[in-house]
Amino acid sequence: MWLSMRIITPLFLLLGGVRGKDNIEKCKLVSESESAKKALRLLEPLTQENFTVAVEDEKEKYSYTFRVCGDVDGLTNAGLVQLKDSGTKVRIGNYNQTRVIGGSDWILLIYEGGEKYESHCSKEARKAMIMISCNKDTKGKFSVVLEDREKQEDCYYLFELDTSAVCPVIPSKLSAGSIFLIVVFCCLSVYILGGFLYQRLVVGAKGVDQFPNYAFWSEFGNLSADGCDFVCRSRGNREEPPTYRGVATEPIEEEPEERDDHLLPM
Ligand SMILES: *[C@@H]1O[C@H](CO)[C@@H](O)[C@H](O)[C@H]1NC(C)=O
Ligand SMILES: *[C@@H]1O[C@H](CO)[C@@H](O)[C@H](O)[C@H]1NC(C)=O
Repeated sequence: MWLSMRIITPLFLLLGGVRGKDNIEKCKLVSESESAKKALRLLEPLTQENFTVAVEDEKEKYSYTFRVCGDVDGLTNAGLVQLKDSGTKVRIGNYNQTRVIGGSDWILLIYEGGEKYESHCSKEARKAMIMISCNKDTKGKFSVVLEDREKQEDCYYLFELDTSAVCPVIPSKLSAGSIFLIVVFCCLSVYILGGFLYQRLVVGAKGVDQFPNYAFWSEFGNLSADGCDFVCRSRGNREEPPTYRGVATEPIEEEPEERDDHLLPM
């Protein structure tokens, strides 16, 4: 009992440690659903990355930094932050208030609960929407689409992220068995062709000797034939044990004959 506990406990700790690396769990969904969790899971490979884009308008220069379920610039729970050249940081969205909508090759990630607007949008909290779409050629290309704030409510910052992480997985049409057969077949072809060329061009063999390792394979063939002969043949050069005839066949078959012989002439 104690021994099994000693083995099992570290195993659980190990699994716990692996689960602890599951950074995606840090995102708190506003409304949990299986589809949202599944979509979020696809973003796991991106959790260690910082995606930054620089913006310049008439007034100032600033940048936006986005992380998937991780703190930007050490700001707790901030998943998307605007960093002004003057040094001020504006929290656009928190990953502890996440919404996720997933499609076939895109995911819409929404971070809510950012810093409140000072005058726009009825002073509601800022919100970031990140449209993540499939692009096989890049791990991550981040860009700003627009800041929609000239209205009374439901304002948002819209971003785009192109990444291969959300591309649909095309299942391999070949099974492991057929791949193995193809590999074996290829190796065999290379062996035969290479051996043939070697025998012909380097050794200068003619006729059947051009076949690679001809002597070995013909010997191998003979040996297998012998083996087969020994295992499978029922008759041949193998002698039957003499006890069979003496004990089993003779008394049963010959005794009635003898009796018949005695009876017939009478
Ligand atoms: C992302 O930024 C954080 C701090 O803002 C830093 O600790 C981390 O190393 C960065 N990660 C990468 C992959 O650059
Ligand atoms: C999310 O994090 C922020 C900043 O830490 C905090 O003010 C807010 O209350 C949190 N929201 C939820 C729903 O946990």
